[in-house]
Amino acid sequence: MQDGRIERGDDEARGPKKVFVKSYGCQMNVYDAQRMADALAPEGYVETAVMEDADLVVLNTCHIREKAAEKVYSELGRVRVLKQERAAQGAETQVVVAGCVAQAEGAEILKRAQVVDLVVGPQSYHRLPELVREARTKRVVDTEFPVEDKFSVLPRPEKDKVRSRGVSAFVTVQEGCDKFCTFCVVPYTRGAEVSRPVAAILDEIRGLAEAGVREVSLLGQNVNAFHGEDEKGRTVTLGGLFERVAAVPGIARIRYTTSHPRDMDEELIAAHRDLPQLMPYLHLPVQSGSDRILEAMNRRHTAVEYLRIIERVRSARLDIALSSDFIVGFPGETDADFRDTMRLVETVGFASAFSFKYSPRPGTPAADLGEQVPEETKSERIHALQELILNGQRAFNAVTVGKTVDVLIEKPGRHPGQLAGKSPWLQALQIEDTEARIGDIVKVEITAPGSNSLFGRRVEEQASA
Ligand code: 5AD
Ligand code: SF4
Repeated sequence: MQDGRIERGDDEARGPKKVFVKSYGCQMNVYDAQRMADALAPEGYVETAVMEDADLVVLNTCHIREKAAEKVYSELGRVRVLKQERAAQGAETQVVVAGCVAQAEGAEILKRAQVVDLVVGPQSYHRLPELVREARTKRVVDTEFPVEDKFSVLPRPEKDKVRSRGVSAFVTVQEGCDKFCTFCVVPYTRGAEVSRPVAAILDEIRGLAEAGVREVSLLGQNVNAFHGEDEKGRTVTLGGLFERVAAVPGIARIRYTTSHPRDMDEELIAAHRDLPQLMPYLHLPVQSGSDRILEAMNRRHTAVEYLRIIERVRSARLDIALSSDFIVGFPGETDADFRDTMRLVETVGFASAFSFKYSPRPGTPAADLGEQVPEETKSERIHALQELILNGQRAFNAVTVGKTVDVLIEKPGRHPGQLAGKSPWLQALQIEDTEARIGDIVKVEITAPGSNSLFGRRVEEQASA
């Protein structure tokens, strides 16, 4: 009893325990970071944006491309200094490495970085409270794929917590991948493809909507392969899920990422035609425009098949904005293969796209292929591709100038009198307006393109998109 009282007294003197989570990589890691903070909240941890103030530092890592692990080790060097400085002031700091590097490297991290107390993989972070407690007395590694579903045991965040994270929220609906593209670590770090039950997803989204969220982005490494079960045990596809999400009061916008061309089924394409809440935006990675390279990547579709899918999507939703991922310098990629990629970009006319130099990932089949492309060639190609993509993005933005669109107001703008929001096509906008509130959807005329975002002014007329 007395010990308990003394402990409480110490806590009160120092204030609540603080957790700092730094996320690398994809949007799913952003979501996971929030859920880690949610898992720790009942333990008395409050989030801080200042690493120096944190009693618990979590690095939520990414393993998708090169040097990810090296980045983590160099960050851990900084954390070590911080831990020593805090120790000199009598404050303890626990250090956690989470995410995909944790999954891939496991105990190796404890060997290489003495500062780390706990290594936890992406499937076990719901166990953080007990693992953190355990790690006070010994160093711990948990990279299991546990039998229990982490989502079903994670606590729901408080309403004001949700609201503080903004009016647009991520929700993981599917995780893992069975596609085994030969360059990719995801099937190894995130495991086999699993879809969450429909009821659990809707319950989470209802909670978000009640806290003021207006837009949900449904996440999955292969989100359009979604096949969750509903209450009656029937399988629901992503298109079907969208219909149910659209019926949640308060949810005005639905987005999703990331998709695979082979899983663009009719129901999903029809949803783009029929559901006004589904935003006219599709991120559909193609990776390369060369059939030879697509085959070596084990993508299991050709460039023409990809273009046919794009045609089908466009005929369902004429104004859809398209986005993609590209890899340049995959083993064996010739100048001719690269030209095929450039041609595909020109043919489609992407509103935006991401491009990466191929980086061999340990344990993936492509890492062991001969004919690795020299770094210099990769640099030349990525430079040319990024210029083409940027031109396409500028052209897309230019066409939208003069249009009146619905904009979701997300935060205060860069300057006083401005608000920041997104168009249906995911364009960031700075809007001259002081009346609208965060979470409102208002009609805005896009007036001019800018370097990072576009400019707009609030109007009263009917929106055209
Ligand atoms: N090298 C380069 N880019 C990669 N990506 C995935 N693995 C690699 C790799 N080994 C890219 C793909 C994928 C995106 C998330 O990251 O383009 O779509
Ligand atoms: Fe990786 Fe995506 Fe291919 Fe799955 S489909 S292996 S996540 S690139």
